[in-house]
Amino acid sequence: MSEQLALNARDIRKSFQIGERTIEVLHGTHLELRRGERLCLMGASGAGKSTFMHILGLLDQPTEGSVEVEGVNAWGLSVNERAKLRNQRIGFVFQFYHLLPELSAIENVVLPARIAASHGANKIDLKEINERAMEGLTRFGLSDRLTHRPSQLSGGEQQRVAIARALILDPPILIADEPTGNLDTATGKKVLDLLMEEQINRGLSMILVTHDTRLADTCDRVLTIEDGQIQSDSKFDIPH
Ligand SMILES: Nc1ncnc2c1ncn2[C@@H]1O[C@H](COP(=O)(O)OP(=O)(O)OP(=O)(O)O)[C@@H](O)[C@H]1O
Ligand SMILES: [Mg+2]
Repeated sequence: MSEQLALNARDIRKSFQIGERTIEVLHGTHLELRRGERLCLMGASGAGKSTFMHILGLLDQPTEGSVEVEGVNAWGLSVNERAKLRNQRIGFVFQFYHLLPELSAIENVVLPARIAASHGANKIDLKEINERAMEGLTRFGLSDRLTHRPSQLSGGEQQRVAIARALILDPPILIADEPTGNLDTATGKKVLDLLMEEQINRGLSMILVTHDTRLADTCDRVLTIEDGQIQSDSKFDIPH
């Protein structure tokens, strides 16, 4: 039943138009993310992982196909309703952090809550959110970096800020697109440990894009994407 799935993407095609040329990156592929599972997605550079993650995270529209978030057909909603759905149900961690350079660490973390408040979401108490952001950043070892701008932070610190931002509204779904791709091994491990801990403590439904086969061993399922198609599940698959 699709309501039991965190995400259900069907028949996804994605093409990009470059001048006269149309490049089809995703060729009618599927993905189901079950509630509470940790799913790893692997695949060669250029295989379409980020393109697919942006579609699953409602950041980009598929050329064809449907994306359901907890049973709701995202592209059947109005722009505002879809923005609200994305804001409140999905956290996204990017490979390149994507923090706003002119905002401090804590202002970046609080931003999704400000957006939620602008959507008229009830239950958004900005004072409480601010405290939650401070508590999150402190837990991530950044209590003395709250007012630093991204340019004043290391890569690992920026990614921890980005994770705190992705989780500030307590979304049930987290998509992390190569979250340690730009970090050295030791820093990357710290960031991943932190992500895994959050996944367990919050019971997140999580997709983790990674090149690290050891990390894939810690996932409930591992999928690979090849030539714009998700390949069938690996030996880690759990039956429905
Ligand atoms: N906006 C765009 N316009 C045109 N082509 C694009 C666009 N975005 C992605 N592509 C193309 O789609 C293909 C897949 O890109 P994508 O970023 O999804 O790969 P990836 O699997 O995430 O790779 P990596 O591991 O290097 O991050 C690439 O060939 C890329 O050039
Ligand atoms: Mg990518």
